[in-house]
Amino acid sequence: MTWSDDGFLPSMAQHALALTIRDLLGHTPGTHGEAAGGVRCYAQDPIYTPVDEQVLSEAGFTVLNDPRAFLEVDEASVVIAISPDIPVRQIIADIARPAIMVWDKVTISDPNTSTDPVSPRVIQMMKEYTELPFPPEDEYFGDLAIYIRKAG
Ligand SMILES: C[S@@+](CC[C@H](N)C(=O)[O-])C[C@H]1O[C@@H](n2cnc3c(N)ncnc32)[C@H](O)[C@@H]1O
Repeated sequence: MTWSDDGFLPSMAQHALALTIRDLLGHTPGTHGEAAGGVRCYAQDPIYTPVDEQVLSEAGFTVLNDPRAFLEVDEASVVIAISPDIPVRQIIADIARPAIMVWDKVTISDPNTSTDPVSPRVIQMMKEYTELPFPPEDEYFGDLAIYIRKAG
């Protein structure tokens, strides 16, 4: 996040997206000494520097070391994972059914070239979700989709 060139901009935008979704879901910031409430926001990336962690913490994130963010995922979670270097979609498919996922649009990708390849279990999980388009945008987010768990 604190790279000196423009490489930090997608990361900043992606973390801002997480805070925006948190606020849309009814997060209430702490005021007059009262604790903030509602929605907790966790962030995990081994590349975070101490400065990143401080900035994220001040913005309201709890920064966790791998794999602890995965351990926080449950049925009420919103998972955001954008072009990760690890197979987040396969891990999530094995551990939970989050309420919402915002991640790279699920297509049959080549497991030899993608770091987050789609597996048969991911394809199976996606049948439980409705896919909504993420607003087209090439610069900061890539080809994302929003997945909302179907009722029932
Ligand atoms: C291709 S970069 C994408 C970064 C950013 N999301 C973007 O779209 O520009 C892959 C990211 O996955 C992160 N990553 C690698 N291992 C991870 C892990 N175990 N948990 C979370 N993130 C991880 C890398 O550090 C890197 O920031």
